[in-house]
Amino acid sequence: MKLPTHVKIVDVGPRDGLQNEKQPVPADVKIGLVHRLQDAGLREIEVTSFVSPKWVPQMADNAEVMHGITRKAGVRYSVLTPNMKGFEAAIAAPREEWPDEIVVFGAASEAFSQKNINCSIAESIERFAPVVAAARDKGIYVRGAMSCTVGCPYEGEIAPEAVGRLAKLMKDIGVQHVGVADTIGVGTPVKVQRAIEATLAHYGIDDVSGHYHDTYGQALGNTLASLEMGVWQYDTSSAGLGGCPYAKGATGNVATEDVVYMLQGMGIETGIDLDKLIDAGVYISQALGREPNSRASKAIRTKRAG
Ligand code: HMG
Ligand code: MG
Repeated sequence: MKLPTHVKIVDVGPRDGLQNEKQPVPADVKIGLVHRLQDAGLREIEVTSFVSPKWVPQMADNAEVMHGITRKAGVRYSVLTPNMKGFEAAIAAPREEWPDEIVVFGAASEAFSQKNINCSIAESIERFAPVVAAARDKGIYVRGAMSCTVGCPYEGEIAPEAVGRLAKLMKDIGVQHVGVADTIGVGTPVKVQRAIEATLAHYGIDDVSGHYHDTYGQALGNTLASLEMGVWQYDTSSAGLGGCPYAKGATGNVATEDVVYMLQGMGIETGIDLDKLIDAGVYISQALGREPNSRASKAIRTKRAG
């Protein structure tokens, strides 16, 4: 066991969470969520994605949201860019509105790659390569998301070798950090550890993060299993928002509130104020007309009310 002493959380709620909403979410609500997250102490926020509005209409207001946020010093703002068109759109604004980090997103499963980004894994790498080069040339950090690293909605179980192959492809084109994603939340701790192990053959421990959806209620366990391997960076979603439009039935990422509660209890530093974080989750949940999908949020709000 080599538990980290501090953990960096990337709140992906504004992007991964809200991309999957059926109802339109106004840009000012998304901006309000980003502001509340940074006020709660989040140091990295995945704000939006520059993808086709025909594919993901919820992210069509990407430029408006990036323009509308008031940036806080020390916070990194990231966006998804699947191709050069997306990257060019992300940097069409004045420099101060550029993302600090971009995310190219590939899959360990061929079928998911086709469904999500309309190309094979090999073609996706060809599309990403110029994006990675252009971003690095401009001093923008490049993260790679690796979907379906334990299971795929179309292909079923995914072998760790497929994850290792994708990690190597990402490394070869200059992607600086990779996220090991359990897109549909089917992973269990040992399977997730195997996916991470396969990734660690190509990336150092400081350049790997965990991104676990909670469909089967395994995400917190998978986070603990990853912590035990020394992984100290996680994508989580405020109020447990979200899912992927191309992974039917998959629910949101593990709730940021639940992860922060667990880490606090383990004496692991996050820099996040749990009370303010809970309020951020309540804010976005109220805007969506539902309860936050976080047990810790519910328990703490019940206690507050009492
Ligand atoms: P395509 O149809 O193959 O692209 O889509 P294309 O290059 O042939 O272009 C077709 C049309 O899309 C053209 O417009 C392009 O201009 C436009 P038309 O001439 O028909 O009017 N287009 C774009 N418009 C805006 N921004 C762009 C862009 N690119 C092309 N960047 C593409 C390929 C990747 C664009 C499409 O498949 C797409 O947008 N997919 C989105 C998938 C997505 O956002 N999925 C959810 C995010 S990933 C995720 O959630 C997983 C993650 O959380 C990790 C995990 O949990 O696994 C990260
Ligand atoms: Mg995701």
